[in-house]
Amino acid sequence: MRKNLNPIGAERLVYEIREIVNIGKQIESFGKKIHWENIGDPINKGEKIPQWMKDILKEEIDNDLSWGYSPTRGSKGAIDFILKNNNKTNALKLDEEDILFFNGLGDAIATIYSRMASNARLLLPSPCYTAHSIGESDHAGEKPILYHLDPENNWQPDIEEIRQKLENIESICGILLINPDNPTGTVFLRETIQKIVGLAKEFGLFIISDEIYQNVVFGETPYTPLIEVIEDVPAIGMKGLSKEIPWPGSRCAWLEFYNRTNDPEFEFFVQRLLDTKMSQVCATTLPQLALPKILGHSEYPALLESRKEILREKVDFIYDELSKIDEVIVSKPQGALYFTVVFKKESLNEWQFIEIDPPEAKALIEEQVKNQPFDKKFCYYLLGAKGICVVPLSSFSSDLMGFRMTLLETDMDIFRQVVKEISVGIRAFFSSTL
Ligand SMILES: Cc1ncc(COP(=O)(O)O)c(C=O)c1O
Repeated sequence: MRKNLNPIGAERLVYEIREIVNIGKQIESFGKKIHWENIGDPINKGEKIPQWMKDILKEEIDNDLSWGYSPTRGSKGAIDFILKNNNKTNALKLDEEDILFFNGLGDAIATIYSRMASNARLLLPSPCYTAHSIGESDHAGEKPILYHLDPENNWQPDIEEIRQKLENIESICGILLINPDNPTGTVFLRETIQKIVGLAKEFGLFIISDEIYQNVVFGETPYTPLIEVIEDVPAIGMKGLSKEIPWPGSRCAWLEFYNRTNDPEFEFFVQRLLDTKMSQVCATTLPQLALPKILGHSEYPALLESRKEILREKVDFIYDELSKIDEVIVSKPQGALYFTVVFKKESLNEWQFIEIDPPEAKALIEEQVKNQPFDKKFCYYLLGAKGICVVPLSSFSSDLMGFRMTLLETDMDIFRQVVKEISVGIRAFFSSTL
């Protein structure tokens, strides 16, 4: 090439959630069945779409308007529905200019970071959902700046740590919450969010709250969306259809801007997000037209409830199975679609492994695990030995060792069997030494 296409210092983005799939496919070719516990796609795991939802889409296909562009901000029907629901329940009222649709939150996340000045940083949670950590650190050309969620305190953050980071790192201009969180499943306590809002006010920051799982909350912790406690701080709420309908293939999500006009810098940022979307014309039309009919359908609340019931049952089962193992730390997720297991640091050593059969699979995995973090080794051994594909926790910008599995398997017998096999795999890993 006459010119370098890639900026100096750019590293390849490694998206471990999908990266491990390549190895899984090779293991599969040796005749082993693979249980894919790595991706949060309910549809791929067999979740069935109710007939009434399909009927709504069929109707929309007959509506020629669903084949055209929609207004850049979003279709009128979808925006009116969102505003009506919000303004009925929340003290902070939104208007049409506070909503902006995207092709999935992945698109919104990438757009937000690409529009921020490279020396303006967001303080991210650790562990962190990779689209945020990759997007934010890529825009800055630096490692992410992180606050830690504590696995021994139900994954709640330490407010003092956040304060210290804000005092010491001038470039931080905002704080990210993922609530409910991926990968930990934590739901932030109301007073924790209030304290973070207080810090944002004190230091002149904005907040982003990724609430894509807001209707997948099944634990005991009451859920607080950011809008309920944001007061007058500028903020962005992130919402979408991927997880709650669930319709990840819709590529339909939206941003809500809170206190948009309270700070000129923030207002200009929001305007630039709109300008960016305008240059791309609009987000996908069909899901926006279907949105009010699906989310407003009389059977929708019951659907959400029945999904929560199943998730609770799965969480209880995994917790009972894995909390008996001395070498791990587990707590019950309160929301989202994942269960995260942390390995106690003092229990790890470089000689641990799991027996793998056949020999070709063993050779492939042994090649992969050379010089890798302990948890990546565990995940590859589990894949080779048990045909179960989970994601190493260290790949979520975390210095904790462990893994994340999904709660999505629809066949309860298979689900229980997979959890039991994971339990056997963990025990084998910790009792082995080469
Ligand atoms: C916390 C979080 N935010 C955003 C996304 C991306 O959602 P979308 O399908 O709307 O791009 C995911 C997907 O797993 C997620 O877990």
